[in-house]
Amino acid sequence: MSLENVQIALLRHLIGTLSDDARIALCCAGKFLHANWRNLEDVLAKRHVVAILDDDPEKLASGEVLGLAVRPVDSVTGGDIDVVVITSDRMEDRMVRRLERLAGEGVKVIRTFRIDHNPDVTPEVIQAVVTQASPELYDEPQPWNDPLPEVPPAVGVEINNGCNINCVMCETHSASRPIGEMDLDMFRESLDQLEAVHCKTLTYHTVGEPTIHRRFEDILRISHERGFEVTLSTNGLLIHRHIDALVRWPVAVIRFSVDGATRETYERIRVGGKFDRLLDNLRLMRSAITEHNLPTSVEMGVTLSLDNLREVPLFFDVFGRFVDDDLITFGLLNSLTAGDVDYYEGAKLINVDRLNVPCLPLWSNTYVGYDGRVSACCRDYHGELVVGDTRTHTLTEIWNGPALTELRAKHAAGDVAALPRACRNCYTAGSAAASLISYFITSLRRAEPHLSPLEFEQRMLGFIGTLGPASPRGGDQSGPGDAGERSYPLPVLN
Ligand SMILES: C[S@@+](CC[C@H](N)C(=O)[O-])C[C@H]1O[C@@H](n2cnc3c(N)ncnc32)[C@H](O)[C@@H]1O
Ligand code: SF4
Repeated sequence: MSLENVQIALLRHLIGTLSDDARIALCCAGKFLHANWRNLEDVLAKRHVVAILDDDPEKLASGEVLGLAVRPVDSVTGGDIDVVVITSDRMEDRMVRRLERLAGEGVKVIRTFRIDHNPDVTPEVIQAVVTQASPELYDEPQPWNDPLPEVPPAVGVEINNGCNINCVMCETHSASRPIGEMDLDMFRESLDQLEAVHCKTLTYHTVGEPTIHRRFEDILRISHERGFEVTLSTNGLLIHRHIDALVRWPVAVIRFSVDGATRETYERIRVGGKFDRLLDNLRLMRSAITEHNLPTSVEMGVTLSLDNLREVPLFFDVFGRFVDDDLITFGLLNSLTAGDVDYYEGAKLINVDRLNVPCLPLWSNTYVGYDGRVSACCRDYHGELVVGDTRTHTLTEIWNGPALTELRAKHAAGDVAALPRACRNCYTAGSAAASLISYFITSLRRAEPHLSPLEFEQRMLGFIGTLGPASPRGGDQSGPGDAGERSYPLPVLN
């Protein structure tokens, strides 16, 4: 089930609960609804949809969308819009403002209705969506059936691959690729290459910790001067050394990776990390943002596993004073680690994992390493998936070149035996399981704020257990080192 299909399934449910005469406006940015309107056609046909607002004015003007009797929002008059259906929280303000600006005189939005953080999306609703999901909802997108974009839609740049700590699920220190960092000339050239493919966003890592780069502050300055929008994903342990630079050349997002909400769990997983230092640096970053009115959003990423599942509610309690609840997000552990798979085997959420073949990012992302070589994978610890070199070829040439084309073909065909070791060992949860679990966390917190961490964990384990075996996507579906039918292990709680 793809993330988009999860959203559609929830939207179907939510729209189905509206009264027949409610005047509805549908809002969506980007391609999401264009690609998915059809899946909502039957529920929408029974409702009173008065307007659609999205990013394709031409389509709207021609009234093509869905064949419904809908109009572009600027022609809507006479009465309030009772409900605005929105697909994401982050778009809410923007969409409502746009709607009210564009809509005719006297039209007022009474309430919005969205998927994220919607009180109507209860744990029971999410459970119902999982239980009633039709088989096609489990289909992942198949980008190989579409024309390949001429240039890579998204490019990551790795400024270095070393790290100051050694997290158990990442184990960067076991990587066999030499440790190195990008020099400033190559960094500038990489930015030229990014601009050539119309990419103005930057992340500084694939694996590795960007803040240990010896010229990190120059990297910040150059990115800023060149107008790139930077997302800095960091373990956050060295932020105190760079706070002045982060004030002078602010990033758009600083995302602290934090995998434990107690000192014990944090320091067990993020080996070498100090919980107190993390808290100090979060405080420091928060104060700098307030004091200097920085345009920096503080986010937190948690890699969820059996090792920290019990602490989910504690993340909000402990870190809520530094990070907005909505910006604490939970990703799922995957098998990609530089070292062996011991930790993964013990901590993975077994029943949602499956072999990540075909790997969809091959059709949407590419990564420039610190030495200019380009990898197909964001977690290429050993350099097994190098598909070109920016010192000799442009990103566009590499994107359309023989190495990546061949890798895509093998993935699309599910030819697992012919794939590099890294791909054969890559087990992930797929976007649907990840998004369902994250919706479940949000809804459970809202519905039952007083659950103890233990009770919260039990509820989550119960829910994760019902997600069932991952849908086959070709290839061997057993995890690395194990075979056949797998069941979800419930840890002993004490
Ligand atoms: C590889 S790190 C690099 C950037 C930086 N050092 C950091 O920790 O954020 C990027 C993200 O990958 C996550 N990560 C590492 N190993 C993982 C695994 N086996 N499964 C899922 N996510 C993982 C980390 O928790 C972190 O959020
Ligand atoms: S997750 Fe980040 S901080 Fe942890 S070892 Fe990997 S690169 Fe280093």
